[in-house]
Order: sequence, then structure tokens, then C-alpha cells
Amino acid sequence: MSDYILEMRNISKSFAGVQALKDVTIRCKPGQVYGLVGENGAGKSTLMKILAGAYKADAGEIIYKGEQREGATAGEVIDSGISIIYQELALVSQMSVAENIFLGREPRYALGVLNLRELHSRSAALLTRLGIRLDTRLPVSELTVAQRQLVEIAKALSQNADLIVMDEPSAILAGSELDQLFSIIESLVEQGVTIIYISHRLDEVFRIADEVTVLKDGELVETRPIDQLDRPTLVELMVGRPLDEIFPQTDHEQGELVMVAEHISSDTILEDASLELYAGEILGIAGMVGSGRTELARALFGADPLTSGEVRLVTNKGASWSNPAKAIESGLALVPEDRKSHGLFTSLSARINVTLPILSRITRMGVLQSQAEDEIVEAAKERLSIVMASADQEAQYLSGGNQQKLVLAKWLETNPTVVILDEPTRGVDVGAKFEIYKLMRQLNDRGIAIVMISSELPEVIGMSDRILVMNAGRIVGEFAHGEASEAGIIELATMADSGANHS
Ligand SMILES: Nc1ncnc2c1ncn2[C@@H]1O[C@H](COP(=O)(O)OP(=O)(O)OP(=O)(O)O)[C@@H](O)[C@H]1O
Ligand SMILES: [Mg+2]
Repeated sequence: MSDYILEMRNISKSFAGVQALKDVTIRCKPGQVYGLVGENGAGKSTLMKILAGAYKADAGEIIYKGEQREGATAGEVIDSGISIIYQELALVSQMSVAENIFLGREPRYALGVLNLRELHSRSAALLTRLGIRLDTRLPVSELTVAQRQLVEIAKALSQNADLIVMDEPSAILAGSELDQLFSIIESLVEQGVTIIYISHRLDEVFRIADEVTVLKDGELVETRPIDQLDRPTLVELMVGRPLDEIFPQTDHEQGELVMVAEHISSDTILEDASLELYAGEILGIAGMVGSGRTELARALFGADPLTSGEVRLVTNKGASWSNPAKAIESGLALVPEDRKSHGLFTSLSARINVTLPILSRITRMGVLQSQAEDEIVEAAKERLSIVMASADQEAQYLSGGNQQKLVLAKWLETNPTVVILDEPTRGVDVGAKFEIYKLMRQLNDRGIAIVMISSELPEVIGMSDRILVMNAGRIVGEFAHGEASEAGIIELATMADSGANHS
């Protein structure tokens, strides 16, 4: 038998008009961590979906545990010891956390009756192993995106796999949650499990991978041991040219006060949050999963009704709002973290997604000006380097990162006063990340104020003019640009009994 647990040889795959993979070969040994990296649309998820049996390759072969695999179904692939944590979360939202973790493999009594006690206790044990406290009876629809991501990881662990593929598992995890994920990966590897780890966060790849494979435009660029790589080299292999990874700054003074929130609470974890927002600044919001960052964004936007306090613009005659439609009318835009259910119309074309919020602007006497529309879509595509076969491609067939860019493009066209970005670079490749940063600074230069929620601490620190730290639903501290450090933010974000230290 060979040294490899898995070989994917000469894999090719096309979708109508798009060659997603060309002659790609990867080989994995047991007990190793393989980083799989590349720009948005490079073909990483497609390769893994072929491994999962979700897509059939046009050419090539898969040799797993020494045997050539022929046309296995997704179920057979799982039974053979491969589990995949998908980039697009795939949980059933009406079902509970525990039911999702054991979907199709529920523990049963001898007569086939569902053993609910066992179901919940085994789920709880898995979650504890991940260091998460979560009621296993909660329906998934009530979880945040980050919590869903953790449930996906628990689900993969429950399958006792020999090979685990993680497609962007960490996209919204930070600090101690990441440490938790990495220590789980380490212990799996000690037990001989093989991990294929896809991430746009290259620091993570350097932290855990033994070898890294780079894909570009569907082709294999290179596979190299991690100790023969440094970050600039890896970025150059991915992007095809050297890239300056420096956060763009603006040099203007703090602008006028544009928006205030006074002691706002909502029917969520959010409690007594106050903040001021100035024209042309980026206000970063840091915190752990479940600390109330997304809830703060939703409360500011009128998406969750306030139970106390007030949010209002200082400009625009002190407008206030109680629902998202009025917020948009007042000049707010929210780019949500859950792009699948709130950000995109996945079965509509990329073109419609970009121009939807501004239809009135490009419609003359009820007729859509398709030339104006084409120009806007073309400009957005250029600016954010969105990879799509054409503007008529349905949003669901774009790669994960390109979907994210599409959501951003859509809101940037509305010309808002305040933009709230919830995890704006989640799943976005390194080149496009810096395009998005530049774009944010261009918005600042036009006086637009930005609230940015991010789990990526280097990004929060590099981009924010001020940083608020959240913990257990409250704002527990503020840093000015230049004063913040990762350690300082993590300390405030993980401090117990934060309520006593409210500032
Ligand atoms: N079902 C599909 N139909 C049509 N095109 C598809 C489909 N799935 C993927 N593609 C295309 O194949 C290419 C590779 O996509 P893939 O999702 O594998 O990229 P990726 O490397 O995972 O990118 P990201 O980092 O953004 O997740 C893209 O051009 C994408 O639009
Ligand atoms: Mg992908």
C-alpha cells in the first residue's frame, strides 16, 4: 500500500463555459495537515466537492486508502471516513443543534426508536470538546452564523473520520475560539487523522499546515512544505505577482459627528450600548463569537427592535428609524455576515443583485436603462475583481468569495451616509481584501462613516480609527488607532464578568 491516504490525480472539471479545474493532482499522507489556498474562484471548493461525491469530475481519478474510487455517492464517501465542513453552511435550520449533528445517524434503541437522551448527551459532549456552551435543543435558525459554523465542526467530528476537509472553517472565529479549533486539529492529527484546510487567512495556514497546495485559475501552481515558504512568497504564488500588504490609511482629521446610539438594548444579548460615529472614520467592533457584535449592527440598522435607548443621525435633520427600510431611506446600509439568507438573491443574476437597491436611479419612466446597468455592473466587477462567466450568471454559482464581493458591490452603489459592514472580508482572497480596504478608504474620503465588525484582529487593528470591544452583549472598552494590540483586545473580549467593568 502506498504512503498516501488520498491521491486525487489529474482532476478536471468544467461547468457550462467555465473550466473550474484543469489537471489538478494532490496527494495526502495520514496525520498531516494540508493547506489548500488560492484566490476566489481558483477551484478549491470544487476540488473538495468532487472528493465529497457532490460533483463528478470530467477526468482524473481518486485513490483513497489504496483503492481506486468509482462514482461514490455522498453517503458512501462519509461512510468511507471522509467528512467535509462546507464553506456554505449546510445545516437544516428547522432542526435542533443535536439533530443536525447526528442527521441520518441518530442514536437509536434496539427497536429503532430515537434515543433522544443519547442524542443530546453525545451532542453536548462534542460541543464541550469544542469549548462551546450551546443548548443542543435550540433550532439552528436561532443561532448566529459563527455558532452554526461551530455546529458544523462538531458534526464533522461526530463522524469519526480519517480525513476531514475544512473549507474556511475559521472565517468568523477569533482569538480563543481559533485556539480551540487548532488544538482540536492537533489532537486529531495525533490520532492519525488527515486534515485538508482551506483558508484565506494565511497566518492560520502557516500556523497549522505541514504542506501547502496553491491553485490558480483551476490549475495547480505548486505544492510545497511549509518550511520552504514565507508569506510574501505564498501570496505571490497565489496572486501571480508580489502584493503590498499594507493597510491603506487616510490622513484627514476626524469629521463631524454623524450618528449616535444612546444606551440601546434589544431583545437579544445586546445591552446598554452607546456609541458615536464621525464622518469619514472607520469604527471597528471587536469581540468573540456571541459577544453581541452582530446584534449591535442589527440594532443600529433597525433590524431588531430596540427595547430601550435611541439611535439617530445627527445630520439629515436628526432622522431616526425603526425598521431597515426607513434606515436605508435615512442613509444607512448594512452588509450582513449571513450573505446567503440576507445579502444575496442567490437564484438571480449577478447583474440584478448589484443593481437591485438602485433600480430607481437607472430607470427612466419605468424603463430600465440597460446600458447604465451594464456600466455599473462592469465597474463593480472591475473594482472588486469579481470572477464571473458573465453578469448573467446566477449568484449561487459564483465562488464563496465572489458572492461576498457581490454583496459589497450592491450596497456601495446606494451612496449611503453610514455603512455597517459585518465581516466584510469573510472568505475574500488576499488580493481582493486589499481592494476592499482601499474601497473603504475611498468611501471615507467621501465623508462616509463605516462601522466594521470583524473577527480578524489584524484587520480591525490595521483599518480602524477607533475600536470598540464587546463582551457578553456590552461595549466594554475603546481603543484609539495605534493604541490597540491583539493581546489588549483579547483580554477585554474574554474578561469574565464584563458587566462590572462597563465603560
Ligand atoms: N455549480 C456551478 N456552476 C457553475 N459554475 C461553478 C459552479 N461551482 C463553481 N463554479 C465556478 O467554478 C470556479 C471555481 O469555484 P470554486 O467555488 O471552486 O472556487 P474557490 O477556490 O472555492 O473560491 P473561494 O475562495 O471564493 O471560495 C468559479 O469560477 C465558479 O464560479
Ligand atoms: Mg470556496
